[in-house]
Amino acid sequence: MADMENSFTERMALDQEMIQLYLSQVFAGEPRYASLQEAMEYSLLTGGKRIRPILTLETCRMCGGAPEAALPFACAVEMVHTYSLIHDDLPAMDNDSLRRGRPTNHVVYGEATAILAGDALLTAAFDHLTRAELPAGQVVAAVACLSRAAGSAGMVGGQALDMAGEGRALDLEELELLQSLKTGALISAAAELGCIAAGGTWEQREQVRTYALALGRAFQVRDDMLDVISSQEELGKPLGSDQANEKSTFASALGLDSCAALVEKLTRQGVEALQCFEHPDFHIWLAENLALRMK
Ligand code: IPE
Ligand code: IPE
Ligand code: MG
Ligand code: MG
Ligand code: MG
Repeated sequence: MADMENSFTERMALDQEMIQLYLSQVFAGEPRYASLQEAMEYSLLTGGKRIRPILTLETCRMCGGAPEAALPFACAVEMVHTYSLIHDDLPAMDNDSLRRGRPTNHVVYGEATAILAGDALLTAAFDHLTRAELPAGQVVAAVACLSRAAGSAGMVGGQALDMAGEGRALDLEELELLQSLKTGALISAAAELGCIAAGGTWEQREQVRTYALALGRAFQVRDDMLDVISSQEELGKPLGSDQANEKSTFASALGLDSCAALVEKLTRQGVEALQCFEHPDFHIWLAENLALRMK
């Protein structure tokens, strides 16, 4: 058991290294304008658990592909995610001044550059999807998958519901929709992109999607809990941000004990969806670890 745990931790570290190397070369050889690229790299290259790109690489492996084939897809998802964090922290949204253990992008570079850095990261993501050395059909499928998950029917839609819900007590159904969109959609896309890169079947993609949607929902419920129970030092972002912004979260709606039970239930549901795979062990381990994470 301990051996398995070590090998998964090692595998995750190798994935992180591969992701870091790719991301660190994203702007190599490109012209630099004002502080734009510096601001993009500031948020992209330091800190962050890299859960989404790891999911892409490992899902590619689980579906029978080589993780390296999925690397541009994986890093594209991390670019979209990083853009969403830069914009999420802006004064017009959550107004937070700490992210990944450092001052937020707009605090360092100003709001205009932070907005532009987010815009450019989103656009760069789609550029990098097209750089994957895969058949055109798989690249088109990836573009369709990520654009739907990131846009108004996915992450941005969820952020709109999140902002519209400030100062109001949302019911559980509203919260579920909001969180599935703002967090579940991108986490699901991350996993689906791995399946697409592997040339997986529709059935595999459906199972992967069911797993990752449950994982994504559990991830956001845990994030809501961490805003209350973690420490700023460990989390690398401010505690109590949700309460300060009068957000309805699962923590405020259900209380911490029921949140923990919900995270456990969603994790179990997600893991059950992996039965059709020969080697789901890493994904099971990841889901169980994320359910108890402190950052
Ligand atoms: C934070 O995501 C935003 C949410 C969707 C909850 P992560 O917890 O994955 O943040 P990083 O990438 O590790 O900084
Ligand atoms: C943000 O949710 C999800 C995004 C799409 C960026 P939160 O606002 O709860 O994320 P944190 O807690 O600031 O990381
Ligand atoms: Mg937010
Ligand atoms: Mg926030
Ligand atoms: Mg949060």
